Amino acid sequence: MKILITGGAGFIGSNFIRHTLSIRPDWKILNLDALTYAGNPGNFNDLSPEFEERYRFLHGDIRDTAFLEKLFNEEEVDRVVHFAAESHVDRSILGPDAFVETNVVGTFRLLEAAKRYWERTGRPHAFRFLHVSTDEVYGSLGPEGYFTEDTPYDPSSPYSASKASSDHFVKAYHRTYGLPALITNCSNNYGPYQFPEKLIPLMILNIIEQKPLPVYGDGKNVRDWLYVTDHCEAIIRVLEKGVPGETYNIGGNSERENIQIVHLLCDILDDRLNRKGDNSSRSLIKFVADRPGHDRRYAIDASKIKDQLGWKPGHTFEDAIVSTVDWYIGNMDWVNSVRSGDYRKWIERNYQDR
Ligand code: NAD
Ligand code: DAU
Repeated sequence: MKILITGGAGFIGSNFIRHTLSIRPDWKILNLDALTYAGNPGNFNDLSPEFEERYRFLHGDIRDTAFLEKLFNEEEVDRVVHFAAESHVDRSILGPDAFVETNVVGTFRLLEAAKRYWERTGRPHAFRFLHVSTDEVYGSLGPEGYFTEDTPYDPSSPYSASKASSDHFVKAYHRTYGLPALITNCSNNYGPYQFPEKLIPLMILNIIEQKPLPVYGDGKNVRDWLYVTDHCEAIIRVLEKGVPGETYNIGGNSERENIQIVHLLCDILDDRLNRKGDNSSRSLIKFVADRPGHDRRYAIDASKIKDQLGWKPGHTFEDAIVSTVDWYIGNMDWVNSVRSGDYRKWIERNYQDR
């Protein structure tokens, strides 16, 4: 089984590759990644040498049709798992172009190349194209209810609009051409190797370094948190048992307000760093201007993937958030390596007027 992963040098993709190499000994992985600011070959520094012959990195861009043609001509690919994307909502607000380019145009070019390959290989039943998407395509929930696979699309940010558009292309390629494509829409992930522009790693590092903790708006926006390896397990289930043409929602059943997350991280780190009383990290919290178009609440109804494919999260939030904090404490070399000059410019730009 040869799996083409796109965006495998990012947060979820690199966790997926590490996880599948260890639990699926007959899978070979090709990792196609453009190495944007979010892609980091250092995410594989700890890859066990025993996996090296089943793992290959291909430096390329999903927008590059000639590159994709060559790849599909040279490699006999059984599955595509498409993670590659611009993934950060705040960046999409300050600069939406890259989101249209990669998430919409890039996904379209990848679909075209995959379709041509699938049509000419004559192995129509073996091939699968799995598009990794987000719960943000459904928009914002009020205090009640959940996103199901039938919730109408209602994206709020340029990021979620670009992911919604890519989902529509994937569905269209299944309905029009019969491409055996599947879609997963997942809630917020956390865990090792997440780029420190996202809430949890940003807060962990700011707490360690005693910097302000910028909480948007009133801090009561709710996200449904899922440990990254549980997401990877769900994707494997969909790859192995999912029905082409279907969408599967994936969620952690772990809703938390942002301020609850920040309080918890402060408390875990105060314990680790022996900070007490006036020195408590909660004093670093700073409520700042809200994100424009900020969705209030996300919550996934994951009963379809549970009932039909037998998946459920294997980690509790309480345990996995502690191990995540400990991973960052123990991997400051990785943190420093990804916080380049560009990273510092981004932090200044996003937080300067807040
Ligand atoms: P990430 O930003 O950490 O990684 C994205 C990867 O894609 C990087 O390695 C980057 O170099 C690569 N990439 C970007 N543009 C590319 C291009 N044009 N060609 C080839 N590679 C390119 O993202 P992530 O958080 O790992 O998310 C992965 C996927 O999962 C995305 O599609 C995202 O929409 C989706 N998703 C993420 C979450 C989450 O909480 N992080 C939740 C649900 C869905
Ligand atoms: O729901 C799935 C999505 O989760 C994925 O599709 C996205 O790729 C991923 O980035 C994530 O999007 P969010 O916008 O929910 O994640 P982020 O970590 O940026 O923000 C989480 C919440 O925390 C959100 O309500 C905004 C808030 N926040 C974020 C940052 C960076 C703050 O209050 N302060 C901050 O500095």
